[in-house]
Amino acid sequence: MIYTKVSAWQEVWLQLISHQVGLAATYLELMRADCTIPVSAWQPGQRVGVAAIGTAIRSDSPDLEVSDLAQSMTGWSQYSAGPAGSYLKLDRDLFADPGCHLGQGPTAYYGMADVAPVGEGDVVFISGAAGGVGSLAGQIAKCLGAARVIGSAGSPAKADYLVNELGYDAAFDYHGGPAAQRLKEFAPEGISVFFDIVGGEQYDAALQAARPGARFGLCGFLSSQLGDASDRSPQPDRTAAEAKGIELLPFSCHHTPDQIAAWREHFSTWLSQGRFVYPQTVLEGRIEDVPQAFLSLLQGSYRGNVSVRLP
Ligand SMILES: NC(=O)c1ccc[n+]([C@@H]2O[C@H](COP(=O)([O-])OP(=O)(O)OC[C@H]3O[C@@H](n4cnc5c(N)ncnc54)[C@H](OP(=O)(O)O)[C@@H]3O)[C@@H](O)[C@H]2O)c1
Repeated sequence: MIYTKVSAWQEVWLQLISHQVGLAATYLELMRADCTIPVSAWQPGQRVGVAAIGTAIRSDSPDLEVSDLAQSMTGWSQYSAGPAGSYLKLDRDLFADPGCHLGQGPTAYYGMADVAPVGEGDVVFISGAAGGVGSLAGQIAKCLGAARVIGSAGSPAKADYLVNELGYDAAFDYHGGPAAQRLKEFAPEGISVFFDIVGGEQYDAALQAARPGARFGLCGFLSSQLGDASDRSPQPDRTAAEAKGIELLPFSCHHTPDQIAAWREHFSTWLSQGRFVYPQTVLEGRIEDVPQAFLSLLQGSYRGNVSVRLP
């Protein structure tokens, strides 16, 4: 790639230190010609990758000094260069681990606090709870006052992780039997909020378990994005939802400055109060190792936000 310096540009160069690999389903969607995500699909030849953080090694911008920490969306690479406006300066002192700046916090916080707001006494079910979004969403629900938080994930070990390390009240392996049955056991009084990351059978189970007037924040549909469902655009059952007065709330989080700020403010407070852990899998590797990490993520090998830390 050739970088042409235009005088109107204030050019910034970044040495990247950590790449986010999570968002497996989103990557796949961006590779499709009929991409349904409200951003431009990737074109052949375009570099793959979403967020990365790095250290500024050269800067013409007064807003970013050499050795500042910054975020870039330039894809899987060791270095990044471009106009200053395409870099977000990060507060190096906000978190002990700079990796905390990567991840799906703005989406999880926006979904739980604004879209299907959780409050005191809510009984919350989160599907896909051990992934990048879900592992944050359950903890956010607890911090917002939920009485009970239930999660589903793809193995007994992941279900144990949700309960023993992330503070979920109950969790189950969705391969181990009908989700509707598990929700009857874990929430006999019904659920009042559902944060859906998976769709399909788990969405149907949540409908059965929902109390009248429950709120459903519809975030993702991993079962058809990554699974073998023949229908890539499943039609959620609206009849049962209408009969119970359930609010179906599909949303897209664009990580606006306000959404990022709201998440960072709450996240840093909850971390300092010891009420939150940052669930992540950090792989030490080279840039050449990133594609394999992505493939392993698709197979369900990791938990939380997945990133590759470069030497
Ligand atoms: N609405 C928005 O604004 C927004 C923003 C960001 C992301 N999203 C969506 O949120 C969803 C989750 O993103 P994420 O970053 O948390 O995902 P992720 O961490 O990349 O999810 C990977 C996980 O998906 C699970 N999985 C794989 N195949 C599955 C299947 N057939 N059925 C159910 N789960 C399966 C695996 O966990 P298990 O082993 O536990 O199954 C795997 O670890 C995606 O659909 C993404 O598009 C939406």
